[in-house]
Amino acid sequence: MVNDSSTRIVAALGKWIGQAPPGARLPSTRALVAEYAASPVTVQKALRTLTAQGLIESRPGVGTFVRAVRTARPLDYGWQTAALRSPQSRLPSSSTPMRRAPNDAIALHAGYPDRELLPERLIRSALTRVARSDAALSPSPAAGLPELQSWFANELGRSTPVGVTPPTASDVIVLPGSQSGLSSVFRALVPVGQPLLLESPTYWGAILAAAQAGVRVVPVPSGPDGPDPDELARAFEETGARVFYAQPNYANPTGAQWSNQLSENIVEVVRAHGAFLVEDDWAHDFGIDTDSSPVAAHDDAGHVIYLRSLTKSVSPSIRIAAVIARGPAGDRILADRGAASMFVSGLLQAAALDVVTQPGWQTHLRNLRHQLRARRDLLVTSLREHVPSAHLTTVPKGGLNLWVRLPDATNLPKLVADCEASGVLIAAGAEWFPAEPAGPFIRLNYSGTNPGAFPEGARVIGDKLARNT
Ligand SMILES: Cc1ncc(COP(=O)(O)O)c(C=O)c1O
Repeated sequence: MVNDSSTRIVAALGKWIGQAPPGARLPSTRALVAEYAASPVTVQKALRTLTAQGLIESRPGVGTFVRAVRTARPLDYGWQTAALRSPQSRLPSSSTPMRRAPNDAIALHAGYPDRELLPERLIRSALTRVARSDAALSPSPAAGLPELQSWFANELGRSTPVGVTPPTASDVIVLPGSQSGLSSVFRALVPVGQPLLLESPTYWGAILAAAQAGVRVVPVPSGPDGPDPDELARAFEETGARVFYAQPNYANPTGAQWSNQLSENIVEVVRAHGAFLVEDDWAHDFGIDTDSSPVAAHDDAGHVIYLRSLTKSVSPSIRIAAVIARGPAGDRILADRGAASMFVSGLLQAAALDVVTQPGWQTHLRNLRHQLRARRDLLVTSLREHVPSAHLTTVPKGGLNLWVRLPDATNLPKLVADCEASGVLIAAGAEWFPAEPAGPFIRLNYSGTNPGAFPEGARVIGDKLARNT
């Protein structure tokens, strides 16, 4: 992602150092400036990085040298194997959507939107303002800044129909991103070893958070229209589960948006089983043909735990989200948050609040909708033209992803590797399934890379797919 010219110099000098004898003298800064056509500041930055990596040392007044003392022996951490034993659950250290892409790659695997889709001007002015405010120096209350709690409560309250009591600020817990919120909600509501129902396919990070919480995952099939309420009822009955995690709006990965009728039916099933629905409204700000319509807005009995994130619509660097939970469930989640991280940086909360309360925020969201529509449609058209054997399960009415079914015989790992070798990054669908994948799928994100490259990306996928079987 950040790949400035100092990174380029570090890479080139690193190679040179690898072949140079210990103690060899590096060219002077002036010579490096000329050789790499970079500024002295950039060269100094590269030298600092190499020093921090232990590859060079500078002797003031003499020069910079390849470090004479290399690592003398391979370090042995074998004792840790005995101390750690086997992990209780094997968590992958990184997932495909979090992979960094080389600058020139066509990155259709990504999870977070490209910078040009962020409200950069609003963010920069918000950060300048909050740097001068008290928020820069004070701890935040455990549940979050009251003004931000109110903002999240009002946002959900806007969709609450007459006759339903809207949430209040005190029902809101501010989070450092919704990922850690998922962990807290699962830990707080599902005892270790007990069942947790998840849509299948579903967000890989939810599968991960469930594994971290040590709960037993039970998949409930979910298609382009959402899950079947009868299947859900059966799963509650068979397993005794009390929690169902789902994304009623623009689900990641399928793009499904539940109809009003389905939302009512699902909430009815949840109520009838004395259970919770954990509603992840991750793409609330990414409606394209429709608006996100939170199921939680229709529940004031504490059955729906509602997660709303700003990390993708404000900035991934201002990691702010919130959970809205009523009753003792909210107290348990807050207790878990306290144990995990005490409170969220007040500076980031104030910055997020500043951005979303500027008049320019609504203008930004309107523009974003147009941009996402153009990107989605271009990727759909490109796929139809270049990958005719791919089946788009649905053209999503919002969100950031296309969920694409490939022919049965597709060798998915090979396809992903072949595309990557040609500079196109795609995500194999297996990561979104809590159990065995229901078929060979790929997830393509239309927000993370330059849309001008979509036709070429699709052409490469089509070409590699044609040679795949
Ligand atoms: C469905 C869903 N939920 C939650 C998250 C976590 O987002 P964050 O922690 O950035 O709020 C993501 C991120 O991709 C997501 O796709």
